[in-house]
Amino acid sequence: MHIDQTEKKWIWVTIFMTVIMVGVLTAYAVGSNIHPPSGFEPIDSTRLHLSEEFAEDNLGYKDNGDGTGTLTMVGARYGFYPSTVEVPVDTPIKIRVASADVLHGLHVPFTNYTTMVVPGYVAEVNTTFQKTGDYTVMCNEYCGLGHDHMWSRLKVVEKTGS
Ligand code: CUA
Repeated sequence: MHIDQTEKKWIWVTIFMTVIMVGVLTAYAVGSNIHPPSGFEPIDSTRLHLSEEFAEDNLGYKDNGDGTGTLTMVGARYGFYPSTVEVPVDTPIKIRVASADVLHGLHVPFTNYTTMVVPGYVAEVNTTFQKTGDYTVMCNEYCGLGHDHMWSRLKVVEKTGS
C-alpha cells in the first residue's frame, strides 16, 4: 500500500502528540495524587437508614485508634450529611459515601477529595488533608432543581493530642 510522504510525516506527528498528551495526563495524575476509585461495593440506597454504617446516628468522623480515621457521609437531595464534619489534619482518612437517591458528585475545592456518588454503590476515597481550614463540600453532578444549593461544610482542624 502506498502512503504519501507527507501523510507519513503527519502520522508520526499524531503519534508524537498522543504520547505527549498521555504523558502530561499521567504526570498530572501522579503529581496531584489522583486515583481511580477503588473497590466495588453495592449497597441498597433505599435502605441506607436501616444499614448500620449509614444510619443517621453513625455518620461523621471516627478515630480508628491507630492514627487513622474513617469519615462516613450520605449524599441526598439536597445536601451532604452530616452537614458539618470536623476531621483532623495530617491524618490518613478513609472516606465512605453513599447516595440515598440519585447520582451526586462530591467535590471539595483545594483538596484532592472528589468522587462520584453513584446510587447503589459505596464510594470510597482515601485521603489526607494537608491544611487546616474550612472547606465547602459541593455537589458537582446535576441532581435536580436544588443542585445549586447542595453543599455542606468540612472543617480540617489541628490534631487533638491522643
Ligand atoms: Cu447533588 Cu447535584
